[in-house]
Amino acid sequence: MSVTAIIAAAGSGERFGAGIPKALIQLGDRTLLEHALASLSPAVDQIVISAPPGYEKQITELVGQGIDVVTGGRTRSESVRNALAVTTGDFVLVHDAARALASSDLAHAVIASLKSGESAVVPAVSVVDTVKVLSSESYVASTLDRASLINVQTPQGFKTSLLRQAHAAGAQASDDGALIEAIGGKVKVIAGEDRALKITTPADLQIALGFLGFNSTYRSGIGSDAHAFGVGRPLWLAGLFWPGEDGVDGHSDGDVAAHAICDALFAATQLGDLGSNFGTDRPQYADASGVQLLHETLSIITAAGYSISNVTVQIIGNRPKISTRRSEAITALSLALSGADVSLSATTTDGMGLTGEGKGIAAIASALVFKQ
Ligand code: CTP
Ligand code: MG
Repeated sequence: MSVTAIIAAAGSGERFGAGIPKALIQLGDRTLLEHALASLSPAVDQIVISAPPGYEKQITELVGQGIDVVTGGRTRSESVRNALAVTTGDFVLVHDAARALASSDLAHAVIASLKSGESAVVPAVSVVDTVKVLSSESYVASTLDRASLINVQTPQGFKTSLLRQAHAAGAQASDDGALIEAIGGKVKVIAGEDRALKITTPADLQIALGFLGFNSTYRSGIGSDAHAFGVGRPLWLAGLFWPGEDGVDGHSDGDVAAHAICDALFAATQLGDLGSNFGTDRPQYADASGVQLLHETLSIITAAGYSISNVTVQIIGNRPKISTRRSEAITALSLALSGADVSLSATTTDGMGLTGEGKGIAAIASALVFKQ
């Protein structure tokens, strides 16, 4: 049994107000029409696009060979009828280009329902707002029972012969399901999806961009750490062992660069700090290396939905000399953060303070994280 997809793309997009047909508006890396095409192509045998009058050639060039392009009508129903005239499939899906992000899975689910014996299938999601009927002059006539209401989406699927019959009288409706209802047909409802929203206004485009991961929230954080040199301790700094250098006193290996980065990441994500996550009341971290703590910190922030954009750390002290091993240190820190973008610098403090007097090492770090 073959399946045709009709993409209704002939609307002018009046409410969007872009001055070009809505189907040709860019959403991320491609137009709404191309998104719709990409999700339907794997599911069907023929695709017919109803193009806005005058845009047939441009759309044919955009979508390439093997796709039928017909001229749309003055109303959506007319546009669908023009496409039905060249439809060859036993089943037909009718889809709005404006529902650019409906998934291939949804198309497959509609087709599966048709193949299991249904003649008309519409995807739908529940209604979140209370819906009232308006009388005249901005007064309410009645309130509908929300539990019995649904928002219907596309692609809607039909036995092609039934949809032709429903369109035969030239009726108009805002979806094809309504035309089937009008001739007494049974319309099956299946689960729709949030991402199949109809893009009507620029605000809807922002929501759609969110589904594509474009609307990330960025947050920054800072962290610092300092330790005094301790006699007979090995030096671990920026994820590296520094042979021949004095180490520092303190909990764990005293890697101030790693600890400052952990704190910056916890600050950026509002997940506490080094002490609250790995403090003395968590004995399992007592001897943890800086690298282990970075790794653990990454797990904690990842579990909270954050990704690292980049991390910077500055080491403050007279020694060791960082410059000779800077790239090695960046690699070690980056590796501990599963390949995150890390930069590292070093400075002295003109002989002043703890580190200038050569009593210890400090580090200050910043982190930028994002969440989709
Ligand atoms: N459509 C169509 N032919 C028409 C009118 C609409 O093919 N004469 C299509 C649109 O391209 C859209 C779908 O039907 O993919 C749903 O319509 P809608 O979201 O209302 O789009 P527009 O009519 O373009 O927008 P507006 O109503 O704001 O002008
Ligand atoms: Mg319209």
